[in-house]
Amino acid sequence: MARVAIVTGGTRGIGEAISLALKDQGVRVAANYAGNDEKARAFTERNGIAAFKWDVGDFAACAAGVKRVEEELGPVEILVNNAGITRDATLHKMTAEMWDEVIRINLGGCFNMAHACYPGMRSRRWGRIVNIGSINGQAGQYGQVNYAAAKSGIHGFTKALAQEGARSGVTVNAVAPGYIDTDMVAAVPPEVLEKIVAKIPVGRLGQASEIARGVAFLCSEEAGFVTGSTLSINGGQHMY
Ligand code: CAA
Repeated sequence: MARVAIVTGGTRGIGEAISLALKDQGVRVAANYAGNDEKARAFTERNGIAAFKWDVGDFAACAAGVKRVEEELGPVEILVNNAGITRDATLHKMTAEMWDEVIRINLGGCFNMAHACYPGMRSRRWGRIVNIGSINGQAGQYGQVNYAAAKSGIHGFTKALAQEGARSGVTVNAVAPGYIDTDMVAAVPPEVLEKIVAKIPVGRLGQASEIARGVAFLCSEEAGFVTGSTLSINGGQHMY
């Protein structure tokens, strides 16, 4: 029987590549999304993967969304917390709303989704949770105190839950992408992005599929002894 996965933010960018990589691995995937119905419909038509709409920053919506997926596809055994947003500004220009929104979605989303999925994994004694962190959570980034704090929080969350889940066969790991060729990175001002790319030893942006391969490995049967780890995929930009 194929395992069932939820990929949050799974219809676009890195999330779409993860949904596809898991599908290729024989997993039945539910791709969560929050906003863009049209893009989600196109994603389902393109890839034959069901899309489910809810806001990962909303605790009750996550519980209801996971219930819906379980009714349609079966118990969720793999969770990829990928959904994330940026609201970049230097601290003196950042509003409380920009702070709250990023913490609520990027970090709160991991708690809300794990809270809905982890008890079932624990009772069935098998589970895989992969949280998408960031190079900017490891190293910090100018103009991103909110995003860096949320992503850094994800790395701590991962190590804490890994300790709790280990005895129940639930592994919890993080993947920390560097700068990947997605809409999110395309929103960085070109002159800023040029300077960032100049500091990447591999000399280019990463591809979403290069992140997805790492996530798919951590979700596989063979990765049962890997837990609490962070896989950095960043072209050598930060060796951590
Ligand atoms: N270090 C030191 N100084 C810096 C700097 C840096 N990294 N970046 C900018 N500065 C300087 C600028 O040179 C400028 O100095 P001068 O006034 O002396 O010329 C000053 O800081 C002000 O910078 P800006 O004009 O850029 O300020 P702004 O308010 O217009 O914009 C910003 C600030 C929105 C943060 C903009 O710099 C920006 O978008 N930076 C990119 C942030 C970034 O990398 N985001 C990542 C998004 S992708 C992602 O997050 C995915 C992932 O996980 C990797």
